[in-house]
Amino acid sequence: MTNQIDDIRDKTDIVDLINSLGVNLRKTGRSFVGFCPFHPNTRTPAFTVYPDTQSFYCFGCHASGTAFDFVMRKQGLDFRGALEQLAARAGVRLEPKSDTEQQASALRTRLLEITTLAAKVFNHLLVATPKGALAREYVERRQISAATVEAFQLGYSSDEWSQLFSYLTEKKGFAPEEIEAAGLAIRHESGHYYDRFRGRLIFPIRNAKGEVVGFGGRALGDGQPKYLNTPETLLYKKGELLYGLDLARDAIRADDRTVVVEGYIDVISAHQHGFRNVVAPLGTALTKAHATLLKRLSHNVFLALDADAAGQRATLKGLHALRETSGAEGYVVPTAQGILRLESDVALRIIRMPEGRDPDDVIRADPEHWRRLVSDALPVMEFYLGAYTAGLDLSQPEAQRAALDRLLPLLQELDGAQQRVYISRIEHVVGIRAELIIDLLRGGAAAARGAGPGRNRPWAERREPNHASPTLRQIPASTPDLPPPPDDDAPHPAEDGTGAEAEAETEDRIPLPPIGDESYLLGLALRHPAVDAAIEALLEAGLAKYPTMRELFGGGLEDLLSQASYQALWQQLRAVPIEQRPAHTEAMEAWIAQLDVSLCAVARHVIAKSKRPDELRYRREAEDCARKLRIEQVSQHLVRLRWRIRSTDDEQEKLMLELLTTRVSEYLGFLVMPRPISTFPDLRNTLGVK
Ligand code: UTP
Ligand code: MN
Repeated sequence: MTNQIDDIRDKTDIVDLINSLGVNLRKTGRSFVGFCPFHPNTRTPAFTVYPDTQSFYCFGCHASGTAFDFVMRKQGLDFRGALEQLAARAGVRLEPKSDTEQQASALRTRLLEITTLAAKVFNHLLVATPKGALAREYVERRQISAATVEAFQLGYSSDEWSQLFSYLTEKKGFAPEEIEAAGLAIRHESGHYYDRFRGRLIFPIRNAKGEVVGFGGRALGDGQPKYLNTPETLLYKKGELLYGLDLARDAIRADDRTVVVEGYIDVISAHQHGFRNVVAPLGTALTKAHATLLKRLSHNVFLALDADAAGQRATLKGLHALRETSGAEGYVVPTAQGILRLESDVALRIIRMPEGRDPDDVIRADPEHWRRLVSDALPVMEFYLGAYTAGLDLSQPEAQRAALDRLLPLLQELDGAQQRVYISRIEHVVGIRAELIIDLLRGGAAAARGAGPGRNRPWAERREPNHASPTLRQIPASTPDLPPPPDDDAPHPAEDGTGAEAEAETEDRIPLPPIGDESYLLGLALRHPAVDAAIEALLEAGLAKYPTMRELFGGGLEDLLSQASYQALWQQLRAVPIEQRPAHTEAMEAWIAQLDVSLCAVARHVIAKSKRPDELRYRREAEDCARKLRIEQVSQHLVRLRWRIRSTDDEQEKLMLELLTTRVSEYLGFLVMPRPISTFPDLRNTLGVK
């Protein structure tokens, strides 16, 4: 197997491959560039392919990998699928599978023949037989067009007991057990078989490759159950399937968005009206497998939530239970059908449906209305922020506290980077200071820890410090490496008392970065958890106005640090959820002590140097530093852009660089514009609390 993978890799040229899969690549120097197929990218080509290493990287969305990764992502395949495709392309024969694998694959083929045939039979009954008349009327009443019937291969199952079964056994020679295994027949105690689907409108369910793996059947009248589905079979795993995905995939890729609705009819209606990126789970809660699949498909997921307030509230209760049992971080979203957890690099938005109407109702009445609902969808935390503050008079402290009580559990679900975004949003919307929110988050986390073995472990218990490497994007080539660890006979910094003293001891032994804006900002951020959110909010103001600058410069404190050791240090702290970050000097000292020795020294150094007499204004100070750093960063980028413009001969590239230069200059103009800042919050907070 490994040999074959190597063989396939050797015989595949990533540039040819990517070109043949619809991405136009242009040679620039040693690499090739084009527009990224994984995120909307039409201005500056951000997608780069490196023939030397046979890899790709997108400077916009940071998608990266090998030919295998590209095919998996572009075609929505798993590794095996990508392997098969690349093997065929490279003319490599894959090793035969083991006996059991072969048996399973033979049975699979057999079941697929049955389901494929059944879909044809159902479809024929619907469109071309007198028996299908009632169902045809129903289809018409639901305003489903003939083209849609064909695209979704809708059908009708006769109301006789075993029409399909008889046809498949007598005419086509399939064994009864096979038909049962395909989920189409049920065996009665008496030994007789009868059809599972009778007298229903049939929705064939296809996997991403377009193979029919199961069926849904809707009663034509008020029959119960309203919908009947294929049970789990070798082919049909409902937790891994999304209805409509085979038809939606290209559209999802093209606009990098997936819209998730609840029902078959919603999907059909949407597609019929040209909304092609719509899929639905199959009468089940969204599963972890769904979340993984959605994440692979696009960076943006839109959920059409049931507007039924009672339903939403009920599922919200599930949140707490879920948090206790699950360790992963990311968005947790209760939907009417269950709870969805998505990893944090997917933007999840909630489409707010009008009370009592589902997407099908809305789309049929007015497609434009649906378009508006989708474009007005709110980021998930924003959705909760709105839902939980609706009807509250936030000038009243009790109301503020009530809103916060509801939001805190959600805030705890987020990772550090998202927390800081929403801490600053909550501060803004609810009117509670970031410092207080963090204190309460801490309290909540402590309470949860006391109650039992929750997911939240205090930082001090973390045995394995995470040595994540800093992002390279911002690090200039000349950056010195991490300072070397101190000599063995040098006094160990961790054994000393306060940071300041330890720092004085080691300062002349370890080459520490000079103290400037960066280290001052980092020192403040280490000592005051609220600084993280404050910087986010500060940068956000500009990025909201100049959104394309986010790709270039980033929106967080880590994007302002260029020193590798500062990056490394901040990454360490950032991995700790805000509520668990060390809150006082001893806690900070303990946290520092468990760091890598070289980072210990850096941490003590920046902390000591960030202590100034004017402590009350730390937030203002941090903001000032951040602004200076950002201005410096943007100015340097402009210099580099101008240099690149001068050194290129490619007219088109020149033009694009000039466009970019204009944008960056506008952003710089915004940054240097003086703006009033209030210093009261710092004062009030520091004097009030503690
Ligand atoms: P809905 O009851 O909202 O159905 O269930 P719908 O799609 O709007 O269908 P119409 O408009 O009444 O025809 C939403 C989804 O829940 C699942 C189905 O997947 C359905 O599409 N469901 C519903 C079932 O699996 N079984 C049921 O009995 C009901
Ligand atoms: Mn409906």
